[in-house]
Amino acid sequence: MENTAIQLNDVTVRFRIPHEKIPTLQEYAIRWLKRRSVSFSDFNALNNVSFSIKQGATVGIIGANGAGKSTLLKVISRVIRPTYGRVFLRGRIAPLLELGAGFDYEMTGRENIFLNGAVLGFNRKDIASRLDRIVEFSGISEFIDAPIRTYSSGMVARLGFAVATDVQPDILVIDEILSVGDVEFQKKSAQRILQYSNNGSTILVVSHNPSAIKQLCNDVIWLQHGLIKMRGSVDDIINYYSS
Ligand SMILES: Nc1ncnc2c1ncn2[C@@H]1O[C@H](COP(=O)(O)OP(=O)(O)OP(=O)(O)O)[C@@H](O)[C@H]1O
Ligand SMILES: [Mg+2]
Repeated sequence: MENTAIQLNDVTVRFRIPHEKIPTLQEYAIRWLKRRSVSFSDFNALNNVSFSIKQGATVGIIGANGAGKSTLLKVISRVIRPTYGRVFLRGRIAPLLELGAGFDYEMTGRENIFLNGAVLGFNRKDIASRLDRIVEFSGISEFIDAPIRTYSSGMVARLGFAVATDVQPDILVIDEILSVGDVEFQKKSAQRILQYSNNGSTILVVSHNPSAIKQLCNDVIWLQHGLIKMRGSVDDIINYYSS
């Protein structure tokens, strides 16, 4: 336990999926009045998942679309609660979830830096003092006062990464988003991730890009249908997964 950064004990995340399509609210109300139940089915996006990650490790999460990777990162980042089980974290976490999570698309880039910074637990004064550095790293200073609905997805990703990683977090969680950045930004962000990793941060990366995983991670968890299929060294797991 001593040097564990992240621990999951029997974590299940259950979603409720409507079974049949209900065309209108009126139809829904009529069914409800007639006590005709609207049928649902329960779906476990994560199923009794347990693992622990040591402080300072960089771990990749791979798996097919719908395997539960984003759900896993959200439950670790406390964006969703587990239906069962518990998540333990040691230290300050900086989550970079799916594109745009934590952003308001009607607000400008500058306003979103404050919004996102607040979500990360920083106060206004602190962010104001770091604003120039964040904008500079993001490389989008020209557009910083435009609403981010006018940004390309790469620009949103740049801004998100710049805010979340301006101060080294104890735990950095990244869901895919770097893949929409251009070559220059991918290099720059990989450099920063490696630097934080060398300085002791624990890092969790979801990616569909095997070479990104190989570049960053030592250890890989392969998720399949909400279960851990395999965990091991990056070369082993990527080999099994690709074949
Ligand atoms: N809010 C939700 N309500 C209902 N089902 C959900 C919800 N969020 C996720 N799911 C379901 O949970 C499963 C896992 O989704 P998740 O987003 O974790 O997959 P993923 O591994 O990140 O996939 P991808 O590689 O496509 O990003 C999917 O079947 C998805 O439909
Ligand atoms: Mg996902």
